[in-house]
Amino acid sequence: MLVVFGSINADLIFPVPTLPQVGETVLTSAYRFEPGGKGANQAVAAARAGAEVRFVGRLGEDPFAAELRRSLVAAGVDDGGLGVTPGMPSGTAVVAVDARGDNQILVAGGANLAARAEDIPEDWLGPATTLLCQNELTPAETHAALARAKARGARTVWNLAPAMPVPAEVWRHVDVLMVNRREAEVLLGGPLADAVAAARALHERFGVHAILTLGGEGAVSVHAGGHHRVPALAVEVVDSTGAGDAFCGVFAAGLDLGLALEDALAEAAIAGALATTAVGARSAYPTAATIAALRPRLGPIRRQPTG
Ligand code: RIB
Repeated sequence: MLVVFGSINADLIFPVPTLPQVGETVLTSAYRFEPGGKGANQAVAAARAGAEVRFVGRLGEDPFAAELRRSLVAAGVDDGGLGVTPGMPSGTAVVAVDARGDNQILVAGGANLAARAEDIPEDWLGPATTLLCQNELTPAETHAALARAKARGARTVWNLAPAMPVPAEVWRHVDVLMVNRREAEVLLGGPLADAVAAARALHERFGVHAILTLGGEGAVSVHAGGHHRVPALAVEVVDSTGAGDAFCGVFAAGLDLGLALEDALAEAAIAGALATTAVGARSAYPTAATIAALRPRLGPIRRQPTG
């Protein structure tokens, strides 16, 4: 079972010709609402890929809340851990997407910030559980959830997005760390030269299986047994919002379902690429059948020895 403890947001998507610079006003004709939030996106991606997924988080009391819950349930995610915090708005994100599919995102946490690690039912955490977290809730609650899960024998996967410095004692509760280039730079304290070297630095510094996602250049995975370079599937990019979430959700689903690491990485890469082919974070998240059909196009992923 995959338990996602994370954010759920209303995404207000503004298509723009170019992303705004400091002090600039950019005009567009209309925005659209889509369900989003890194936690909920990852839960939906994992469920579509075939995992049994339970979501723990908080909605507010506002006109978006019902549709945000409905979208999770429609994807097959168990919403039994999704509470409501009276008097607060649901998490809301303003997502500007330019003509190349690049984005800028502002997130108002709202009710997400009321989610508590104790909201995860005790019997949802155990050796048969994978806990998947991001970094859009109150950090101390995410850290506590990771610690609780680890103490109960669960596997823990953390997409540290957005990135911020982490207290040293938290790392011993983390099995897999997933970050993009910018997030890795925050953790490592400077620009990345080489992706494999950066992922290895994350692995060695924090004692985790480190996965570095590289957008159109694929991903790198470094763990005690060596490393993998994961290619990207060539697609026409429309909107990259939520692509990292598809990668993380489908990778965690693969681990939870007992796939070989190479297969979990390949499925994640396919989902991440397909996610960029439509407007909105989740609009193009693939099913398990679509992922399987595209698997031959990615080619083999081979373990390279460390060093
Ligand atoms: O990763 C994309 C997500 O980030 C969006 O859905 C938005 O809600 C923000 O959480």
